[in-house]
Amino acid sequence: MNGIRLQVTDLRRDFNRRPVFQGISFALDAPGSLAVTGLNGAGKSTLIKVLAGAIGPTTGTVAYQRAGVPIEIDALRHELGFVSPYLNLYDEFSAEENLRLLSRIRSGNEPASVTIERRMKQVNLWNRRHDDVGTFSSGMKQRLKYAFALLHEPTVLMLDEPTSNLDAEGIAVVEAIVAEQKERGILIVATNDESEAAWCTARVHLSGSGGNKR
Ligand SMILES: Nc1ncnc2c1ncn2[C@@H]1O[C@H](COP(=O)(O)OP(=O)(O)OP(=O)(O)O)[C@@H](O)[C@H]1O
Ligand SMILES: [Mg+2]
Repeated sequence: MNGIRLQVTDLRRDFNRRPVFQGISFALDAPGSLAVTGLNGAGKSTLIKVLAGAIGPTTGTVAYQRAGVPIEIDALRHELGFVSPYLNLYDEFSAEENLRLLSRIRSGNEPASVTIERRMKQVNLWNRRHDDVGTFSSGMKQRLKYAFALLHEPTVLMLDEPTSNLDAEGIAVVEAIVAEQKERGILIVATNDESEAAWCTARVHLSGSGGNKR
């Protein structure tokens, strides 16, 4: 048990002075899992970005702590893994080079070669490690994002549209990752697929009534 806790208080995020969501409050302790659900445009991706610290809230707070001690935003990079359709890979570099380069950007150092090998094998990309990512199928890119998200063994894993572009075997890989993460740390899944929401024990449902409806 690593004792990490996410505490969200009265969160609101506006775009163009209109709230996408507001009044979001919850606490999530490790081990634990949360589904963020709602229709297209309800604000799932926006909320998950705010929870990851990728964008700020308009008002309200997102706080992570371990055993009561706050985790600063800089330190959070070492705790957080993120998989999403809008995460970009470098097309002109190989799969392995992407993992090394993205790791340097994330944490200032490269993972051990055995760690890279283990994660690339986990997502079945080891035999394609020298190929440019620009030549990858969309499902292969999605698998590589999982390898990257897991390289530093994150205590908090956030997945936006977790199974997009994946085949049955890829979905099984993700389900195993999910099962392990929610026993070990915090798992947050943004989805409009009920079967994926059912992976999680808690839920925030965004009704889209924050005022974003046009
Ligand atoms: N950068 C932005 N600038 C302006 N509006 C934005 C921006 N990002 C998101 N929005 C708006 O915020 C609302 C929520 O978008 P968001 O992508 O969070 O929805 P979602 O629930 O993830 O939808 P989907 O199921 O289609 O992925 C939408 O009305 C969208 O137009
Ligand atoms: Mg989205």
